[in-house]
Amino acid sequence: MAGRGGALALVALCMLEVALRGTGAAAGERLVPAMFVFGDSTVDVGNNNLLPGCKPECRANYPRYGVDYPSHAPTGRFSNGYNLADQIAQFLGFNESPPAFRSLPAEGIVPQMKGGINFASGGSGLQNQTGQHCGGVYSMADQLEEFTSVVKMMGGSSYDLISRSLFFLSVGSNDLFEYADDKNPPPHRDDTAFLKCLVDSYKTYLQELYAAGARKFSIVSPSLVGCCPSQRAAALTHHNGLDELHCFGAANNLSRQLYPLLASTLQGLSRDLDGMHYSISDSTGMAETVFTPGGAIGYNLTVLDTACCAGSGKFGTGGCNASAVLCPNRANFVFWDGFHPTEYASSLAAFVLFNGGGKFVGPINVEQLAAL
Ligand SMILES: *[C@@H]1O[C@H](CO)[C@@H](O)[C@H](O)[C@H]1NC(C)=O
Ligand SMILES: *[C@@H]1O[C@H](CO)[C@@H](O)[C@H](O)[C@H]1NC(C)=O
Ligand SMILES: *[C@@H]1O[C@H](CO)[C@@H](O)[C@H](O)[C@H]1NC(C)=O
Ligand SMILES: *[C@@H]1O[C@H](CO)[C@@H](O)[C@H](O)[C@H]1NC(C)=O
Repeated sequence: MAGRGGALALVALCMLEVALRGTGAAAGERLVPAMFVFGDSTVDVGNNNLLPGCKPECRANYPRYGVDYPSHAPTGRFSNGYNLADQIAQFLGFNESPPAFRSLPAEGIVPQMKGGINFASGGSGLQNQTGQHCGGVYSMADQLEEFTSVVKMMGGSSYDLISRSLFFLSVGSNDLFEYADDKNPPPHRDDTAFLKCLVDSYKTYLQELYAAGARKFSIVSPSLVGCCPSQRAAALTHHNGLDELHCFGAANNLSRQLYPLLASTLQGLSRDLDGMHYSISDSTGMAETVFTPGGAIGYNLTVLDTACCAGSGKFGTGGCNASAVLCPNRANFVFWDGFHPTEYASSLAAFVLFNGGGKFVGPINVEQLAAL
């Protein structure tokens, strides 16, 4: 184990060096014409700000969100700076994520399709009911409905654009959170049936996108959701709740089971759907490395369990807002708030997704997917 950790640390240091020198698109070049983003708060860039009825707890439109973003102002990103959608967009040659769908005026939607649109909504999940506690979020079904209606409006003229664009999806964590955190679960829950239901929903959404012309899919599988500060805190109230990583075991178990199901579903889809290509991250594998004691030292991540933007609760949970205490060095923290990674931690993930070779991303990386 120690030897493996050492090797990984070295690889990580090399990766950081490459990241600092910059890879991906050359100046002024774009590797795909457009990027379309779907999913949850890991990739939301402001849709929830503009969704009527969405509660403050499911928005990130107040300080200290955005403290490291170029404007130093909150934008709706659940991060101190750029999020994963921005960082992948940057590798592809864009300045940041395409704009939030809700931020576009009606007459601006079709023109913006040329560069891409972000439909993601914090709190949402694969299942329609996920995120209901937020008071109003865009489920994946809603996000897809908006996208396909724009494609229909554009008619045949959209086909070439859509087929060459990157479809970036990061969703599923909220379904796992809500299931694992259910205070009154029905007796004899069937985890396997629940996970199969999630994967079946995912498959349906991918088939709908394919039918609308999408061919290039980058899929971010849910990470070890039991290791975020909110779930570490929740685990303390469960009998035998902690696993060997000191995280919420029941939630992590769901993540560990979901990844292989998703990976094999994608493999099956790409066999059945002519011209479909994909790249999927092994986010639980990445997280396993980061959260194994000592595993993340080479990545400069020394604080694995506590939110940088710390509320008064256990592990800094309980509210990242203007009263929260900020950690001095964001690049040492995995987590920005109780649920979301720091800009620095997500930049490491973006690097692996875009440039990784076999380990933690497959069957190809996003750079290879874009080049097809
Ligand atoms: C989810 O919502 C969409 C429309 O918003 C609907 O078409 C679909 O049938 C719903 N799915 C389930 C499983 O209820
Ligand atoms: C998680 O899975 C492991 C291995 O399958 C099992 O031993 C453990 O009891 C599970 N933990 C929880 C909390 O479900
Ligand atoms: C920040 O959140 C805490 C906990 O919910 C709350 O007590 C406090 O008033 C909030 N501060 C601001 C400035 O909103
Ligand atoms: C790593 O952490 C050190 C100490 O907190 C900090 O000074 C440095 O900027 C960090 N390195 C990177 C690449 O962010």
